Amino acid sequence: MSNYHIKHLEEYFQVYRKSVRDPEGFWEEIAEEHFVWRKKWDNVLSWDFEKPEVKWFDGAKLNITENCLDRHIPTRGNKTAIIFEPNDPKEETQHITYRELHQQVSRMANVLKEQGVGKGDRVCIYLPMIPELAIALLACARIGAIHSVVFAGFSSNALSTRINDCDCKLVITSDGSYRGGKTLDLKAIVDAAMDDCPGVSKVLVVKRTGGSVNMKEGRDLWLQPLLDNAYADCNAEIMDAEDPLFILYTSGSTGKPKGMVHSCGGYMVYTAYTFKNIFQYRENDVYWCTADIGWITGHSYIVYGPLANGATTVMFEGVPSYPDYSRFWEVVDKHKVNQFYTAPTAIRALAKEGLEHVEKHDLSSLKILGTVGEPINEEAWHWYNNNIGKGKSPIVDTWWQTETGGVMISPIPYVTPTTPTYATLPFIGIQPTLMDEKGEEIKGNQVSGRLCIKFPWPSMARTIWGDHKRYRETYFSAYDNKYFTGDGALRDAVGYYRITGRVDDVIIVSGHNLGTAPIEDAINEHPAVAESAIVGFPHDVKGNALYGFVILKDIGESRDRDNLRKEINQQITEQIGPIAKLDKIQFVSGLPKTRSGKIMRRILRKIAGKDTDNLGDISTLLNPEVVTEIMDNAIP
Ligand code: WT7
Repeated sequence: MSNYHIKHLEEYFQVYRKSVRDPEGFWEEIAEEHFVWRKKWDNVLSWDFEKPEVKWFDGAKLNITENCLDRHIPTRGNKTAIIFEPNDPKEETQHITYRELHQQVSRMANVLKEQGVGKGDRVCIYLPMIPELAIALLACARIGAIHSVVFAGFSSNALSTRINDCDCKLVITSDGSYRGGKTLDLKAIVDAAMDDCPGVSKVLVVKRTGGSVNMKEGRDLWLQPLLDNAYADCNAEIMDAEDPLFILYTSGSTGKPKGMVHSCGGYMVYTAYTFKNIFQYRENDVYWCTADIGWITGHSYIVYGPLANGATTVMFEGVPSYPDYSRFWEVVDKHKVNQFYTAPTAIRALAKEGLEHVEKHDLSSLKILGTVGEPINEEAWHWYNNNIGKGKSPIVDTWWQTETGGVMISPIPYVTPTTPTYATLPFIGIQPTLMDEKGEEIKGNQVSGRLCIKFPWPSMARTIWGDHKRYRETYFSAYDNKYFTGDGALRDAVGYYRITGRVDDVIIVSGHNLGTAPIEDAINEHPAVAESAIVGFPHDVKGNALYGFVILKDIGESRDRDNLRKEINQQITEQIGPIAKLDKIQFVSGLPKTRSGKIMRRILRKIAGKDTDNLGDISTLLNPEVVTEIMDNAIP
């Protein structure tokens, strides 16, 4: 019998050792005993980090939706799979059972087939957090189409870039979306994107807000009538374990987003196994992850991981501040949530609003609290622990990435003793290591370095869509034979890991991974801008906020500075989305550069973070004089 559910620390160490000593044997047992396969694998693992190429369960046949839906019907047909909590608390909650979900997914799968979507085709999903979003993912998976979800807060430009990068032929969207007191015209954003997406032949539209939309003849179709006419039964396409399940874009150090490709078999096994253990999920628990399915957290821990375990997962359409700052706690109370998983930025935002919002609600159902997306600071950790967990619910600080598919470093609650701000120990099967600048592994404890992973794990991304070379360069070329995460970390005296933050040009703002390059590209498109550089600076609520240093062209010199700031942020909103807006914009005459022309972001970071006591050696710069000017005019 495999150790699918780890219950005490000794067992963790024992299973961990087994997973490292004999990874193939270990994962084979987990895969064999806890999932349904149409055919078993020929080979558990083959890998080569030089190429790089990683294959798990190669030769196996499966469909992930049979694991998430069909197999539960006999025992859990009437169990709630998804609790949908709408934006407006006055609107009724929906409880969707496993049987109903199976039917709805089948209907949507049949609609997609009728519209000409087949195995291997890419489908873009641009929807708010409504049940159709989860259903659309599963419907694609049902027929072997590759879904590419784009977060419905991204602009039309960001959307069309992602649609074109992987040649989506169909888009699923809605007329609009609710976000707190606001309504967003999603369809209008899609329409604008479609001007640049000649490859898209069909747009299916969910009615959510009832706002007026423009439906293009021959291209746009309302989804509901199609669903009403579709059969509630659809055979699952039989997939190879290594076939792509989905693409999800993430920001990198260069302008173009990276379409991370995840596989069917390994992704399923790892997300399900981590979900079970990291949330210690028990049969009748109600689990809630507040993330949006537009991010990997939602893919792995709202949809696939929970459903593969037959869990009840909450899908929340709204925002923590609507109708007021007690909404999260109201929802916890209303659905008697047992596991609650959110982001440090949300915790900090709610902590600011005072305890009266928390005290109105009964939070005694909570057993486990989780955080993800960025390092959690000590203060937020204690607030969460004391006021939400009442000191009795362990906090799992889960470190992972879009690329890793599932949680990599995290406590197992009630098993691993927690330490504030530490993600603690590697999960089963994960072999982290710290590297120094010379490329040597740092042994021992109480050390810090760059975080790498030494051995493949089942849910790692297999490539970047259409750019395997970039996949190799980004993750496998910094250190020989290791996956490089882009993060710095320290390992304390007992071997616990604490993630200290990115060591590359990626900035985590409110838990969102933003590359500096695409934002700079957007700013530079403003007609008055000559050049720009973006850095992060510490922010009370967002963790980091963005500080832009902008050089104007001559034509910009006479312009009103505040208007320019607005226009620059408008430009960013259009190109990327409001999440990438700058908090501070300083106009400068030059940017500190090395003699080879590389912007010295290290110096800009220090200025933005008001940490200018030791700027390091600036004498080697091409233009050291500009540093004083920038410091003197820095925005407080
Ligand atoms: C980056 C990945 C994984 C889902 C959400 C983000 C940072 C993530 C933690 C954590 C410290 C964290 C890292 C990582 N990060 N979780 N618990 N502690 N940092 O996914 O957008 O791919 O971003 O988020 O810097 O590399 P993502």
